[in-house]
Amino acid sequence: MTNPDHIPVLLDEVIKGLDLKDGGLYIDGTFGAGGYSVAILEEKKCNVIAIDRDPEVLEKGKNIVNAFQGRLKLVQGRFGDLQKILKKEGVKSVDGIVLDLGISSMQVDDRLRGFSFLRDGPLDMRMEKSGMSAADAINTLSETDLTDIISRYGEERHASRVAKAIVKIRKVRPFMRTIHLADTIRSEVRRSRAGIDPATRTFQALRIYINDELGELERGLIGAENVLAANGRLAAVSFHSLEDRIVKSFIRDRSKRAPGPSRHKPVLQDLEKKISFKMINMRALTPSRREIISNPRSRSARLRVAEKLLSKPNYLN
Ligand SMILES: C[S@@+](CC[C@H](N)C(=O)[O-])C[C@H]1O[C@@H](n2cnc3c(N)ncnc32)[C@H](O)[C@@H]1O
Repeated sequence: MTNPDHIPVLLDEVIKGLDLKDGGLYIDGTFGAGGYSVAILEEKKCNVIAIDRDPEVLEKGKNIVNAFQGRLKLVQGRFGDLQKILKKEGVKSVDGIVLDLGISSMQVDDRLRGFSFLRDGPLDMRMEKSGMSAADAINTLSETDLTDIISRYGEERHASRVAKAIVKIRKVRPFMRTIHLADTIRSEVRRSRAGIDPATRTFQALRIYINDELGELERGLIGAENVLAANGRLAAVSFHSLEDRIVKSFIRDRSKRAPGPSRHKPVLQDLEKKISFKMINMRALTPSRREIISNPRSRSARLRVAEKLLSKPNYLN
């Protein structure tokens, strides 16, 4: 059972990485079109609690939920609230968690959601369809704040030039449509030699800011650390360097012993705080050439997998 609207990325690698068991309970923190949830449920006789912050996903996912007859529960919420969500479900610990970060093809392709700089639509970008929209941010934030957001989350070298143009133009004509913003950026920044659309970075930055995506990721990783049972796996697929950096340093930090005992820090406290995961793949897994050709949107995907250690390991033995 697959949904042609979104092709799951690195699917075999994710399923292998989760090391699924019959009878296990797994969390799909980013349900989307349900590609990972379906594959997990088809692989083993297990249960899945799936989460998505987009209210449209719940409606679209109903058929999949029904098809698995009580084995799949789909909840609207944020994976950053994982512990709260599981508490409400009466669940204390789980056997695996997968996060497939960013947005789905269904969201990008729907011009009314305002994520795409290639399709004209309202400048929205809110995954939850509530709160501050991209238009609100673009039309009200100061030039300094816009520069900071575009530079930090879009890693755009020309952030200040883009922000300056936005502030100048919005005085005459506020930004309400994606194409108005995309064309403004294109008139300020030249297309790269690789042919990447100049609007790419600023749109990425706005989306990350509006949805607090990096904050969500940090909270989600800590939540995963707290709810994973011993030997449970965490698999995270990221699509740009900012996300991957957070996942990589979280796993590294939690799977490494702290450098030699310090006279100033109690040894046990330091070790217990640090070591909660074992790194499964030293390097991020990336899609094969074949996958990239059949699904070009997979090209920047990076998968990292880690295994939860005993909750309170006795490191001194
Ligand atoms: C890349 S898609 C997932 C696709 C999915 N793995 C599949 O195979 O169909 C990401 C999904 O995660 C959701 N999402 C993004 N951030 C989220 C968060 N913090 N909490 C819950 N859902 C989130 C998006 O709304 C989107 O539907």
